[in-house]
Amino acid sequence: MDIQLNQKGQPHVERTLVILKADAVQRGIIGEILTRFEKTGLKVVGMKMIVASPDLANKHYPASRREFIEGMGNRTIDSYAEHSMDIEAEYGHKDPYKIGLQVQKWLVEFLTSGPVVALVLEGPHAIELTRKLVGGTLPLKAQPGTIRGDYSFDSSALANSSKRPVRNLIHASGNREEADFEVGLWFGPEELFDYDTVHQHHMTA
Ligand code: CDP
Ligand code: MG
Repeated sequence: MDIQLNQKGQPHVERTLVILKADAVQRGIIGEILTRFEKTGLKVVGMKMIVASPDLANKHYPASRREFIEGMGNRTIDSYAEHSMDIEAEYGHKDPYKIGLQVQKWLVEFLTSGPVVALVLEGPHAIELTRKLVGGTLPLKAQPGTIRGDYSFDSSALANSSKRPVRNLIHASGNREEADFEVGLWFGPEELFDYDTVHQHHMTA
């Protein structure tokens, strides 16, 4: 596929990593979720079922990325406050980094707990478009019409007080840097394919 450039000479065509997590696989909605991506014109250029090793899961959810860990901790703190739940009574502190590290451990356990479906989606604005379809992190808050909003009601308060990560069905890379890293982490070059779709012809005609 030809790479289209925007006015700043930056390519619009991107690749993003999507994981249909164990909850999506076990609920039997792989097909429904894939259909949503396909309908928009996103091209599946890689797809496999895999049980992640602890090493892969720890690289995917890096404990060393402080802002990522703290972000998860802060979301847990906010969700507890919103639902009038006492986070200090449960964790013995309200340190976002330490709470985030606990969530990271649950995430690694969950990602390694059973088969997931890993996908690489390609297309113009693929990263933003995929995140839009997936919806906000917490299904309770995710907009209706998004995958997380339509298929789950989970929240940090519900999940983290049950000592598990939020079951939000999908992982999708958050930005270009994350996407480049994650596509390379989960897929070898020989597992990614190049072909044309009808969407390309519609958009370039
Ligand atoms: O997945 P997304 O990019 O929307 O969110 P994230 O901030 O990168 O967090 C990664 C994952 O951690 C989420 O998809 C949730 O499964 C989980 N999480 C959680 O269990 N509890 C939180 N308070 C925040 C995130
Ligand atoms: Mg993320």
